[in-house]
Amino acid sequence: MAIIGKDIDKAKALLESGEVVAIPTETVYGLAGNALRAETVTKIFSVKDRPFFDPLIVHVSGTRALEQFATTIPTVALKLAEAFWPGPLTLLLPRKENIPDLVTSGLPTAGFRCPNHPLTLELLNQLEFPLAAPSANPFGYVSPTTAAHVADQLGQRIPYILDGGSSAVGIESTIVGFDEEGVVVHRLGGLAIEAVAEVIGKVVVRNISTSNPVAPGQLISHYAPHARVILGPMDDLLNKYRDVRYGILSFEKEYQHPYQMILSPQGDLEEAARRLFSSLRAFDSMPVDVILAEEVPDVGLGRAINDRLRRAAS
Ligand code: TXA
Ligand code: MG
Repeated sequence: MAIIGKDIDKAKALLESGEVVAIPTETVYGLAGNALRAETVTKIFSVKDRPFFDPLIVHVSGTRALEQFATTIPTVALKLAEAFWPGPLTLLLPRKENIPDLVTSGLPTAGFRCPNHPLTLELLNQLEFPLAAPSANPFGYVSPTTAAHVADQLGQRIPYILDGGSSAVGIESTIVGFDEEGVVVHRLGGLAIEAVAEVIGKVVVRNISTSNPVAPGQLISHYAPHARVILGPMDDLLNKYRDVRYGILSFEKEYQHPYQMILSPQGDLEEAARRLFSSLRAFDSMPVDVILAEEVPDVGLGRAINDRLRRAAS
């Protein structure tokens, strides 16, 4: 069983020996290993039961490290990194050959992110290599936002979980790429696209289909807890599903029902994002067969929350 602790030296020693260690970030916990070592990267995929066609994000200590691993860095990319790193933003950039093919599933670009968490930043500063890290959950399940979430599912498969408390943002990073269309959002996430647009002007949100192998994190059925999630206007759902064992996942409203999670009683989207994944997980220990869920306002982090709810529901 994994040891859970706050010992950076221990995490560092394990990572240096080629092991896989769970690390805290402000978005979700990551399952990290030396991004430059192919056997370690293989281990990450096998611990997660993740298909090899789904590329990993490379975590770096800052913009300086980018020069080491990216062939070209568009000016807008640098501008975004300067505005939002460390933070919940992943940049897709053409990679150098020092990043193994396995990390990017053979794609010519790699995703780079500098996470905003004091323990992990310290770790990245001390290491001589960047960390490949997907979210630390079994493939297809809800991402973890605490060390206990990681231990529950992957504790038997890894030696150490670096405990950095609850993730402050709670939803995976926003992924952007750069092409002839300009700045293209590949995954909605913990950095609101309004904030990105404020820095660089127009952004294009690309609606990636289920089968597009370029961005498998966009697979439609993803982020799903064990009970089936059904999304719709809550009053309609309550009417339609009154005869089954259901739980309620509401945005702000309280219902008279024993099995319910409220994302944010104050109607705050940041709080809702922070609580989304732990709320979905909570239903796994309740006697419910379906989770009735409603969308949140589709602005700011609400867009990413709705994206995850739709994927959990399909
Ligand atoms: O916030 C996050 O991004 C977290 C923390 C741990 O940093 N990581 C995370 O990783 O969410 P993961 O593996 O669960 O999702 C990464 C997704 C992939 O599924 C894929 O859609 C996209 O990032 N991705 C990575 N590299 C890519 C590339 N070169 N081109 C297109 N998409 C890429
Ligand atoms: Mg993931």
